[in-house]
Amino acid sequence: MDHRLEKILHEFAKGTGRLTVLTGAGISAESNIPTFRGPEGYWTIGSKEYQPQEMATYQMFAQKPDEVWRWYLYRLGVCKRALPNPGHHALVEMEALFKNRFTLITQNVDNLHIRAGNSLDRTFQIHGNVFFMRCIKECRRNVFPVPEALTGKEKNDPLTGQDRQWLLCPDCGNRTRPHVLWFDEIYNEHYYRYHSALKVARETELLMVVGTSGATNLPNQVVWEVKQRNGIIMDINIEKNPFSHAALSSEQGFFIQQPGGKALPDMVRCFKTAGS
Ligand code: APR
Repeated sequence: MDHRLEKILHEFAKGTGRLTVLTGAGISAESNIPTFRGPEGYWTIGSKEYQPQEMATYQMFAQKPDEVWRWYLYRLGVCKRALPNPGHHALVEMEALFKNRFTLITQNVDNLHIRAGNSLDRTFQIHGNVFFMRCIKECRRNVFPVPEALTGKEKNDPLTGQDRQWLLCPDCGNRTRPHVLWFDEIYNEHYYRYHSALKVARETELLMVVGTSGATNLPNQVVWEVKQRNGIIMDINIEKNPFSHAALSSEQGFFIQQPGGKALPDMVRCFKTAGS
């Protein structure tokens, strides 16, 4: 590991500053979940292929609710069969090491951070979670687990009448929708911890960005908040991206061009040797 990086990690571990980790689909790539902008992302309806950016919209749900649910239930099945990888486990160790100095902000809806053991209190799921659903009318703004009976769907499974019954709001009987942020929607605090994420960013001394292409709004605001206060920014990615440029143009910035499953365990080992 770069000696300058090791020194900064040791100093951070011995200090009292806040560590914020911002993750994207790249951290789950090693768990065999296709990244969002990777080639596997498309979905076919009839003879037409749709990109995620077309499927993951309120507009598409309004027109084809069953097709959108089929796509999400298929993705839920992929996520359920996936396992957390060493990158996820390393973040659980970081939370155990730093406790209230630690916050995880994730764009991933695959639930792997929670399954690995990160706490719901310190994990801000800013794009929602595919294992949950909510009332399309937002009758009581509650979020419900997707019924277990629907979590084993295969790619070409149709939606049955019974499935549609299970996808009704338990409070008011209207349709439910996946509890995820769609491309034609905006962040908010209630469902996506929007203000909490920005507040944490303003208090962050060390920001680790892992496996994200920097394409979305709130993550860019988080990185900018830390950068403009000269916080330490480490971008972990297998290729250069806007966040690696943001890190490298910072006074204390690092671009670690490695998979998260390798770089994150190395960082945990470095934190643990800080005292010695
Ligand atoms: N380790 C680290 N980074 C990786 C790895 C890996 N093993 N494999 C891929 N990556 C990187 C890619 O280089 C890319 O920069 O992960 C990033 C994945 O980028 P995207 O697929 O765009 O995913 P993400 O940045 O999470 O997308 C953000 O946009 O599409 C919306 O809501 C959706 O949550 C998603 C958000």
